[in-house]
Amino acid sequence: MTAPLFGQPAYEHLSPETRAVVGMNSKVREDWLYQMPFFAYDAMWPIFNEAMFLARQPRLPRPHNLLIEGPTNSGKSALLALIAAALKPGGDHALDHPVPVMLYKCASGVRRDDLVDGFLRGSGLEILPRRRLRAGDLIHYAPIMRLRGPRVVLIDEVHNLFSRAGSKHTVTDTIPTLRDLSMQCQVPLIAAGVKKALYAIQSDPQLENRFTVMRLPPLQSGAPFVRMLMAFERWLPLPEPSQLRQPAFAQYLYDLSGGWIGELKDVLHRGLRYAIQHQTPCLIVDLMQAAGCLSAKERRAVDI
Ligand SMILES: Nc1ncnc2c1ncn2[C@@H]1O[C@H](COP(=O)(O)OP(=O)(O)OP(=O)(O)O)[C@@H](O)[C@H]1O
Ligand SMILES: [Mg+2]
Repeated sequence: MTAPLFGQPAYEHLSPETRAVVGMNSKVREDWLYQMPFFAYDAMWPIFNEAMFLARQPRLPRPHNLLIEGPTNSGKSALLALIAAALKPGGDHALDHPVPVMLYKCASGVRRDDLVDGFLRGSGLEILPRRRLRAGDLIHYAPIMRLRGPRVVLIDEVHNLFSRAGSKHTVTDTIPTLRDLSMQCQVPLIAAGVKKALYAIQSDPQLENRFTVMRLPPLQSGAPFVRMLMAFERWLPLPEPSQLRQPAFAQYLYDLSGGWIGELKDVLHRGLRYAIQHQTPCLIVDLMQAAGCLSAKERRAVDI
């Protein structure tokens, strides 16, 4: 990186990437938090390590699976993406197998046929018919999937498999499909979802028995939370340091976010936008209040 010109601020409180953005127009700066990288934190490692353990097992007739459970905005999708990146060819934990890891995101209202179609097509097999594949096709393609299919399937928003849009009822026909997919194709599933997924899995003794459930916890207050604040602050394109780690500010942000990483990001994003629009050089508690930052609980209360 070139040295700052004489008289120009060095913005040493910012990451090198953010320094390049701090002088840019307000739109670029307001959107900058979308570019923020993933920050590792202690509580995620047991889950990450379990995922690596399952992925690296040989193909088993009765593979074990993992459910990462957590509330919305807790970082489940971000963690799945990290796991996928670590396992992909050339990644830090790449498998000695040419077939990439598959990441399937369940849209709302997804049906068992959609999952099977997405799974079989995502494997890149050229022999598949053009027509939409159905759950009943799984058994036909399972032998080749055992040979050439993915060694691990990551399923995001898995709770969407268990309830259709507009329906509060558990969709029980997806449970055997999930079980069959894992067992017939001998592939461990690493799924992420909210509590509804946990209840659905627990409703079926065979499925429950094949899943380890790990809850993604919030950041602990104190040092782990402060470390995350410091990492985030380096990505706030503001000309002066916000001192988020100061005890009163850190406590205010902890109370607002409950330690949930996505909530913290949302709150800081709102403060950042307000600071940019009002040409304020850094975040302070008064500004966050003026920006209307609310906790998730407060937001829900207002929504009612
Ligand atoms: N470790 C991390 N470092 C930086 N940003 C993170 C991290 N984990 C999550 N985030 C960010 O927090 C926000 C929420 O994360 P994510 O979308 O993974 O939550 P989620 O639990 O999947 O939510 P939902 O249940 O609503 O899908 C995203 O903007 C994501 O980029
Ligand atoms: Mg998600």
